[in-house]
Amino acid sequence: MAIISNCTTSTLKNAAKSLISGNLVAFPTETVYGLGVDATNKAAIAKLYRVKGRPTDHPLIVHISSMANLDKWARDIPEYAIKLARTFWPGPMTLILPRTDLAKDFITGNQDNVGIRVSSHPFALALLKEFEAQGGLGVVAPSANKFGKVSPTTADAVSEELSDFLSPTDLILDGGTCRVGVESTIINCTQDSPTILRPGAVTAEMIYQRLGITIQLSIDEGNLKIKAPGLLQSHYAPAARVFLLGDTQPGDGFIAYSSIPTPIGAIRLASPKDNDEYANQLYQALRLADSKRLQRVVVIPPINEGIGFAINDRLKKCEYKL
Ligand code: TXA
Ligand code: MG
Repeated sequence: MAIISNCTTSTLKNAAKSLISGNLVAFPTETVYGLGVDATNKAAIAKLYRVKGRPTDHPLIVHISSMANLDKWARDIPEYAIKLARTFWPGPMTLILPRTDLAKDFITGNQDNVGIRVSSHPFALALLKEFEAQGGLGVVAPSANKFGKVSPTTADAVSEELSDFLSPTDLILDGGTCRVGVESTIINCTQDSPTILRPGAVTAEMIYQRLGITIQLSIDEGNLKIKAPGLLQSHYAPAARVFLLGDTQPGDGFIAYSSIPTPIGAIRLASPKDNDEYANQLYQALRLADSKRLQRVVVIPPINEGIGFAINDRLKKCEYKL
């Protein structure tokens, strides 16, 4: 497995060719790094699930270079979904839509819908354009981490997490640190009105302001009959135990706004000044806790505003449960 940091036209061409040949290519998006595979290649996708250690009934998101390719993968697209796509793509938003025959069971976990995203990261866009120019139709890319663990926001984090599991022909494209830092907003567009299945940088408030569409945060996913993220007890979790708002003990990691002082004896892991910085730094800070082999991390959660909803969603999922 090689890490490519000079993402020139020729290296991106080679990376696209590598995807077409059935290899895994990790690449940056504006949210987190994805582990890319040709979305039509069954054998390569089986390898992807093995590398991630992910159960095969967990569906994958198909990444395309533009909304123009949406109808290859999705059908019966509601008007509100078109509006969402026009407004927030390319960007940190995934739409769940009824699938076409191209979206096979091996990427949708046997569901009759499919997740689609157009990332705004210049390397992701360039890679996908080149992949499509070489005849490819879409690239599935789950976050480039082991199942249940913290998503990587740098190429080094991808390498630390997966290098032992990747083959010599697989690649990691280094596009620097991801700007947003938490995964895309996932919106269920298979019903009369949209619901948010996973909060992210595109918020319900932004959707209302830009489009006048009221969107619910789906709490009871049980009756949706779709496999939504975070139904598991523990997700997005480091090896260290994460405590929200708890008392700190000497040697604990500590994550809070910069305005909150570090308790005596605690080890500061991040000091974001606002929610955007909080999202941008959170996963790196959790990884730092593990690299320092800390047993516990105390986190003072951000206020529920803007991307704060997404941060609090992830914090609740990685919180240590007895
Ligand atoms: O920001 C992101 O979305 C990143 C970057 C790389 O694009 N990708 C990402 O993928 O977070 P992943 O696989 O780590 O998380 C996607 C989540 C999973 O929990 C999966 O269950 C859910 O999206 N998902 C995917 N397709 C779905 C579908 N058809 N219906 C319901 N949930 C779906
Ligand atoms: Mg993930």
